[in-house]
Amino acid sequence: MTPASAPDRRIREHPTVGDREGSPAFRTFKPRRRQLTRARAELFDRLAPIWCVDEQGEPIDASEMFGRAAPLVLEIGIGLGESFTTMAAAEPSIDVIGADVHTPGIASSLARIESSGLHNARLVHGDALVFMRRLAPASLAGIRIYFPDPWPKMRHRHRRIVSEANLDRFVSLLVPGGTLHVATDIDEYVSQVQQVCSGRADLVGGVIGRPDWRPVTRYETKGRSAGRMSTDLMYRHD
Ligand SMILES: C[S@@+](CC[C@H](N)C(=O)[O-])C[C@H]1O[C@@H](n2cnc3c(N)ncnc32)[C@H](O)[C@@H]1O
Repeated sequence: MTPASAPDRRIREHPTVGDREGSPAFRTFKPRRRQLTRARAELFDRLAPIWCVDEQGEPIDASEMFGRAAPLVLEIGIGLGESFTTMAAAEPSIDVIGADVHTPGIASSLARIESSGLHNARLVHGDALVFMRRLAPASLAGIRIYFPDPWPKMRHRHRRIVSEANLDRFVSLLVPGGTLHVATDIDEYVSQVQQVCSGRADLVGGVIGRPDWRPVTRYETKGRSAGRMSTDLMYRHD
């Protein structure tokens, strides 16, 4: 195989916790080393400068970024981005930012944004907890977390993204009336979300029926095949 025809083995890893100044105390994701094919690497290089927002930097002016004033929603952990881009297309009146550390997922989402001609979606290739520092208090109409990493082992539970500490940050970013929407197929994670959210006087809500406007995600499909049922929880910031 000549160098020209050899697959591109560039690995774009996300920096690990502790590598960055002010990084969160705990990583909520599992670092995964994934190689991009040459074609995906080229696509990434072409589209990321257009559609990606840096994880770190100055405060974001969303109306300048999207060229309009519209409700802004952040989805944390978009995976390969199927449901994120489907929802963005179905909700043209809101602007959405999807974050994930998973490089192939961001590459796949970039391809979907381009092929769908979406103008109301941007991506963050990085840790959403770090990116949130770029957002002003009370700037989000919604935060969506669909099938967060379950961290089933007791010694890893502190890594779950829906935790008491992270909830402070989530709520501070929500406008009054803004919503936190979580879906999971781990019963014990449902209990954790209920427990941390019910401890707050400024959040109202709980388990809801599965909304038909939330597309079935890739992870959810896997869970269904394994016999797991998903639960949606919706909390409104009062
Ligand atoms: C179990 S997967 C679910 C993906 C997708 N929502 C689905 O349902 O198919 C959880 C995703 O969250 C991402 N993730 C976890 N913590 C994150 C964080 N702090 N910032 C950005 N992405 C994160 C992981 O990289 C992973 O892609």
